[in-house]
Amino acid sequence: MIYIKNKSEIEKMRLAGAFAAKLLNYLGQFVKPGVNTLELNDLAEAFTKKHGHRSAPLGYKGFPKSICSSINQVVCHGIPKKEEVLKEGDIINLDVSPIVDGYIGDTSRTFLVGSVSPEIAKLVEDTEKSMWLGIEQIKPGNRIDDIGNAIDDYLTPLGYGIVRDLMGHGVGRNFHEEPQVPHFRMHRKLAKIEPGMIFTVEPMVNLGTWEVNFDKQDKWTVRTKDGKWSAQFEHTVLVTDKGYEILTQES
Ligand code: MF3
Ligand code: CO
Ligand code: CO
Repeated sequence: MIYIKNKSEIEKMRLAGAFAAKLLNYLGQFVKPGVNTLELNDLAEAFTKKHGHRSAPLGYKGFPKSICSSINQVVCHGIPKKEEVLKEGDIINLDVSPIVDGYIGDTSRTFLVGSVSPEIAKLVEDTEKSMWLGIEQIKPGNRIDDIGNAIDDYLTPLGYGIVRDLMGHGVGRNFHEEPQVPHFRMHRKLAKIEPGMIFTVEPMVNLGTWEVNFDKQDKWTVRTKDGKWSAQFEHTVLVTDKGYEILTQES
């Protein structure tokens, strides 16, 4: 069942989304060579607590940290650790999901560490562009599969692999709820998009194959099968009467 949020829930999701955006902007200023991902995690946790909020990832299905930090060939769900030090030329996706008054805002961005190779810079740009093309499909009358179709139509001719194992998702009081939002062409009709739905669009885009592996030891880290690099951007989006509203932006 896809929840339709009422006015007061939407207002709370606006606050959660705005705080998630503020947190991600705050973290972004610390991304540079020499910083380790545990430091970024701890900065996020301290900032979140200072504002009276909590981090949804911490303890979620056993996830051990407050944010996900995914470097280079890590697609998503990377676990922050002190041994993981950023260096010039890396890319890192930081994914934050604070709980504000019971409601969750979910957003991520891929940051460049210093200057990166042109091919990687283009991967990151094209990934962000694909997210926006997907989001532009969000309006009553369209269906959930229109989002992935638009993303796929842009990325596949450019030769990228679009991750299929992980998708966008409804979000609210629950971190992950219906609908699932594929970022690739499914050749199937999915649910109609209706006002009051809130879900994420978060394409994970690979320089090579779309296929991924899940880490056998930590059970979380998702990596590309061929070791090529991967980028991701994520927004939480509300469906309005006319179209959409991005919730994960600073107001
Ligand atoms: N924020 C991720 C998403 O976009 C979910 C992370 S689950 C966690 O859906 F447990 F790894 F935090
Ligand atoms: Co998400
Ligand atoms: Co996320």
